[in-house]
Amino acid sequence: MPKYRLLTPGPVAVPERIRLAMAQTLLHHRAPAFISVFEKVRANLKRVFQTEGEVLVVACSGTGAMEAALTNTLSPGDRAVVVRAGKFGERWAEICAVHGIEVESVDVEWGQAVEPAAVRAAFARAPNARALLVQACETSTGVYHPIRDLAEITREDPKRLIVVDGISGVGVHDLPMDAWGLDVVVSGSQKSWLLPPGLAFVALSDRAAVAVQTARCPRYYFDLRKELAAQVDNQTAWTAAVSLIVGLREALEMILEEGLQEVFARHEALARATRAAMKALGLRLVAPDAPSFACTAVYLPDGIDGKRFVKHLRDIYNLTIMGGQGRLDGKIFRIGHMGDVDGFDMISAVAAVEMTLADLGHPVRIGDGTRAMTEQLHKSGLRKVRLQ
Ligand SMILES: Cc1ncc(COP(=O)(O)O)c(C=O)c1O
Repeated sequence: MPKYRLLTPGPVAVPERIRLAMAQTLLHHRAPAFISVFEKVRANLKRVFQTEGEVLVVACSGTGAMEAALTNTLSPGDRAVVVRAGKFGERWAEICAVHGIEVESVDVEWGQAVEPAAVRAAFARAPNARALLVQACETSTGVYHPIRDLAEITREDPKRLIVVDGISGVGVHDLPMDAWGLDVVVSGSQKSWLLPPGLAFVALSDRAAVAVQTARCPRYYFDLRKELAAQVDNQTAWTAAVSLIVGLREALEMILEEGLQEVFARHEALARATRAAMKALGLRLVAPDAPSFACTAVYLPDGIDGKRFVKHLRDIYNLTIMGGQGRLDGKIFRIGHMGDVDGFDMISAVAAVEMTLADLGHPVRIGDGTRAMTEQLHKSGLRKVRLQ
């Protein structure tokens, strides 16, 4: 039986050190021992988000944090500019629709990053817009949007907030929240955080924290006023996801031991080597011009069905990667670079991709991809596995 390999753009493989930490005796969430865990977690989260502001921890998947970000900063009837460049950009628009927030769309071809000028034009069409909603990494296409430029444009009018879905962006790309003036940044534990799914984070600038007090969308569980009041005292408003937060303490230690810049470089090196491998196999990248480091999305050759490809990898080679979503369903596959994966895991994944292409009848020279990848990894100097 080949070793089980989880290389999706989330959930990710969880390192043993974190799994063992989460297996410890359960603490009560109001006990001093847990409160001191949470205090440490809060301090280290701010370091990873690169902010002096509050980073709230909520028990939900990433979408919950997206909804909380909106309902706590906007009100029904407000207008928001939404970058729709993939499945998750569409999700921003869907959440807006549910809460009566009007959307000024910036529709971007899937696989492309948004042009900052298109966002400026949208603000010109909607001068009363209160926010820009955008992904850092649009995980459905593997694109990275130019967040720094978008933040500058948004802040040309001080009434506007930039709300960034950094679910697969934080801890992958350098997104210094305070330095770039980002107002709300959300993320989710099953991505770069080396954890299972179930926790999400909502980081707030001072301006966003003020907006939380005046927003008028209905909210109860995700009322961040309650979380702000509790979490500044190192408590959570509701029962905390204790085991995941204990795991998060360990994960943050690991991330900071490795070093933030080194963490970004690790993701970048894996993504770059994967792109080299795919090109060497003659495959076309979905996002050749603005690739994210979170995952690489690749078009399947004509005649190979995406669902069959992903199933074959899983059933025959025990490798779990992801297919496409929405309009890219069946047409692409996506390999993740987050979590407990290193260059050698990626080489195995590329070998399995090569063998699957051959199994399914695509003319491929086995070894072209792994060779390109190995050369690229060697060039990048990524020799040491730092996670353990
Ligand atoms: C960029 C982005 N936004 C939102 C989500 C949705 O998160 P979840 O599935 O955890 O609710 C994901 C998850 O894949 C994502 O990658």
